[in-house]
Amino acid sequence: MERPYLGFGLGLRKEHYQEVLDQLPPVGWFEIISENYMVEGGRPLHWLERIREHYPLVMHGVSLSIGSSDPLDFDYLRGLKALIERVEPRWVSDHLCWTSLGGHNFHDLLPLPYSDEAVAHVASRVRQVQDFLGRRILLENLSSYVTFHDSAMSEWEFLTAVCEEADCLVLLDVNNIFVSAVNHGFDPHDYVEGVPVERVWQFHLAGHTTNASGKILIDTHDQPVRDEVWALYREAARRFGPVSTMIERDDNIPPLAELLEELDQARRLAEPLWEKQRAHATA
Ligand SMILES: [Fe+2]
Repeated sequence: MERPYLGFGLGLRKEHYQEVLDQLPPVGWFEIISENYMVEGGRPLHWLERIREHYPLVMHGVSLSIGSSDPLDFDYLRGLKALIERVEPRWVSDHLCWTSLGGHNFHDLLPLPYSDEAVAHVASRVRQVQDFLGRRILLENLSSYVTFHDSAMSEWEFLTAVCEEADCLVLLDVNNIFVSAVNHGFDPHDYVEGVPVERVWQFHLAGHTTNASGKILIDTHDQPVRDEVWALYREAARRFGPVSTMIERDDNIPPLAELLEELDQARRLAEPLWEKQRAHATA
């Protein structure tokens, strides 16, 4: 299947439900956090049903725990599948991480050792999930703060190996690449260059903060996208071509107009590059 392109979108947050419906802002799509709507009835679903009449949606989960050694949670997957049937998203994503062990949910997206054994483990679980859902899923790269002695490859080699072995897709978080590059001392350009172009279906952009020591970056999603991340996004936009792009804001949520202005910044940066690529391809 060809990579679909939805343009520039935003993460849908409850603070903006009313404004979205009143103003129908010029965004291409919204991403929803799957778990917020995996219920029967209630206000969030009511808003969602109305908003989906106007915009394409994509679903983004935080609880799949695809890297865990616990059995896959088929209760969760049944709930996810029911939401997919209700929402009809263009695609469904979660994270390349583990969030639970021994039945305990840590509510944190935790990194894996980058080893052949972990590739085989995660890829086989992704295949089971994809078989169950009847569709390919996107996996997002994390921001992380620790690494494992057992890692035998780079994070981007690990991501690529999992996606090729499981035939799944990538949600590339450009901010996460930058945060992890600073925290672990790798070159973010190597990451962007190392991921296969055809697998990347979505970009995330977000803000981060620097910790008190000034040495560690924390993926806080509570402020605008930083200049260094915009620069890396330019590079990613050039390499991957037209990829649906959105801004994630989860804390310190500003008025919708502010996020729309920030999203315009992404548009102004990427669209001329893609226009040039199109002109070049047809020349
Ligand atoms: Fe993200």
